[in-house]
Amino acid sequence: MLKIDKVIKFEKNKIDNLIVEIVNKFRKKTDSSYNTIIDAMEYSLKAGGKRIRPILTVKVAEMLKGDIKAAYQAGTAIEFIHTYSLIHDDLPTIDDDDYRRGQLSNHKVFGEGIALLAGDALLTMAFELLTKINIEAEKKLKIIELISDKAGYRGMIGGQVLDIKFENDSINLNKLTKVHSLKTGALFKASILSGAYCSDFTEQEYKSLNKYGENLGLLFQITDDILDQTGTIEKLGKSTGSDQRLNKSTYPNLLGLDGAKKKAEKTLNKAKKSVQDFSNSSFLLNLVDYIYNRDH
Ligand code: IPE
Ligand code: IPE
Ligand code: MG
Ligand code: MG
Ligand code: MG
Repeated sequence: MLKIDKVIKFEKNKIDNLIVEIVNKFRKKTDSSYNTIIDAMEYSLKAGGKRIRPILTVKVAEMLKGDIKAAYQAGTAIEFIHTYSLIHDDLPTIDDDDYRRGQLSNHKVFGEGIALLAGDALLTMAFELLTKINIEAEKKLKIIELISDKAGYRGMIGGQVLDIKFENDSINLNKLTKVHSLKTGALFKASILSGAYCSDFTEQEYKSLNKYGENLGLLFQITDDILDQTGTIEKLGKSTGSDQRLNKSTYPNLLGLDGAKKKAEKTLNKAKKSVQDFSNSSFLLNLVDYIYNRDH
């Protein structure tokens, strides 16, 4: 196994365990009347997922010699937000997808109402978790401010809104880049910059990480669009072909598969360039290739 695969596997395992711990804790705190909502939240949280966002938070904090324990806490909260976004994204009223993370989508098991509420509960729980990060209050507030901004209407939600708005529209590349940078890039930025807030950094370092987040998020969504056309449900663990079914503008639609690959390559180089001046950036550099080459 390649070194980056091993590191990702190791960190994913740690995040998985932290999530199990959190779910067990809130189950213990409540009586059985809350079982339905906890079951629905647990179903999507524990299904796995690559855990790329929390891993980024941890690795950025590690690179900047910051507080790693706080980074695990912040990253885990972001994973709760990401998980909620997937449950809502799969709902019949949005992408109407039946499979996610190697199993039936949340609404296919619990029904649309509970799936909607499980997403809401994961989102609010994320902020409860953020209040509990062991770090000075000022940094904690910065992290909360950052994540609310990036997950909200100017960030991920804003991108999802444009994604719906532009269905059936032939939009240009600039508009598509905006959709991708918001719907996916924003949460990547939140993950990366939260890692910075768990550490000390210079203004220049912050700018570089922000740029890295922008390009990594874009690269991630370009590969997601490519895999929606070329990937398999077995490898991806989620339904494929939804973009075409919903007449979405995507990079492969606008540029062709080869053009999309070329755009991904350009974005890969930009991402790498933005972190080349950090002395310990090998994980961030390798992650770019990992995402470019992914088949899951
Ligand atoms: C899927 O994200 C949604 C997108 C932003 C493309 P991931 O591919 O990170 O999903 P999981 O967490 O591994 O399931
Ligand atoms: C969704 O993008 C991004 C989110 C904010 C959830 P997609 O709709 O392309 O994600 P998948 O392909 O369903 O995972
Ligand atoms: Mg979608
Ligand atoms: Mg979708
Ligand atoms: Mg997709």
